[in-house]
Amino acid sequence: MINPLAQDLNDSLRGTVPGEMLSDLGMRLFFPKGIIAQGAEAKKLGKTANATIGMAVENKTPIILSSVKNEFTNLTSAEAVAYAPTAGNLEYRTIWKEQIIAKNPSLKDKSFSLPAVVPGLTAGISYLCDLFLKEGDVLLAANPSWDNYSLIVEARRNASLKQFTLFNDTGFNLDAFEKAVKEQAATGKVRILLNFPQNPSGYTPTKDEQAAICKILCAVADKGASVMVWCDDAYFGLNYEDNIAPESLFALLCDAHEKIFAIKIDGPTKEDFAWGFRTGFLTFGGKGLTEQHYEALGKKLMGTIRSSVSCCSTPAQSIMIRAMKNPEIEAEKLEFRNSLEARYKKVRAFVDARKNNKALTALPFNSGYFMCFRCNGFSSEDLRQKLLNEYGIGTIAIDNAHLRVAFSSLDESLIEQVYSTIYKAAEELA
Ligand SMILES: Cc1ncc(COP(=O)(O)O)c(C=O)c1O
Repeated sequence: MINPLAQDLNDSLRGTVPGEMLSDLGMRLFFPKGIIAQGAEAKKLGKTANATIGMAVENKTPIILSSVKNEFTNLTSAEAVAYAPTAGNLEYRTIWKEQIIAKNPSLKDKSFSLPAVVPGLTAGISYLCDLFLKEGDVLLAANPSWDNYSLIVEARRNASLKQFTLFNDTGFNLDAFEKAVKEQAATGKVRILLNFPQNPSGYTPTKDEQAAICKILCAVADKGASVMVWCDDAYFGLNYEDNIAPESLFALLCDAHEKIFAIKIDGPTKEDFAWGFRTGFLTFGGKGLTEQHYEALGKKLMGTIRSSVSCCSTPAQSIMIRAMKNPEIEAEKLEFRNSLEARYKKVRAFVDARKNNKALTALPFNSGYFMCFRCNGFSSEDLRQKLLNEYGIGTIAIDNAHLRVAFSSLDESLIEQVYSTIYKAAEELA
């Protein structure tokens, strides 16, 4: 299916040589009017505050770990400009694997692949589509989800992103999830992309919900379905409540069942505040898979890397290796995490004090960079426009009903003012 925005572009090119020669993929591609376009508007007009940015920002500047910043001038020529191996620098991959285990202690004695370096998590997801989704296949994901999933899966891969309702009144909607999984299981194959802490809602399942998710997946696997779960752990570790599942779903799924294959998508992008470095990792795990299987999967992945970017950025990998070996890095990360947690706590208190507000309902949130409001009786785009044009506050309309606010990009001192204004503007519209 051609998106109307793609169609507009195809119409603009009609009668030209490039228009005549567009491939089927070329015909489907477009630039969404989503997060990036709304973010660009906010950059221009969000004079009071810009809560659109999926980065951690302080005083209008992205934060950076000193252990990362200090390495920029220390690189040898090989560390700076030599080609990196196709699947990434071996030391970088090895340290990242050790870190995955340190962050997910239950992985200690489990078998899973060496992480392979990809040029950012976005590319990692796109490569998984290359490897595991053919045209027309269904990939399950939550509703709402990060808008780029649809561009990657539908426009790029010509597959179908089928979204289950993420929330019920209290938290993760296990019924909707189970129904969607069972429907796919009836076809023999279940593919799911799950992202926690989630973009846009800022939600991570509780320990009980995570166990129930695994149980549902094991139940369909028991009945013979092949299950593949892509765990998008972009915001891993930014948990602000005690009842949240502390480990990635990957840690539970990678040895859960012979019919379940799990993939971890992660990287320093958000975890180490290195958004523009463009390095991420793909890690494979499945009960019964051997080193030989992991090697074959690694080679397949190397085929997608070699045939697209050839290899990933060398200086980014070199700086991360040096930074991760610096004993100071954990304390520096903790300081930034604490600052994000302080922002979360402030937003939490503000929103909790307005639980019965008629115009806005906050979706469940407990982690990550964001939170989302459901707009009751007016469109989120109207609210976004009002906030931007009348109050100089940039936010994101995720769809017609949901407004995303990135508290990661709001200084703590601005939170009260920004959130008061959001409620005020919403009440004016309601
Ligand atoms: C859920 C989710 N996954 C992946 C990404 C992309 O990460 P990267 O910048 O490493 O491509 C983002 C970035 O916004 C995200 O929100």
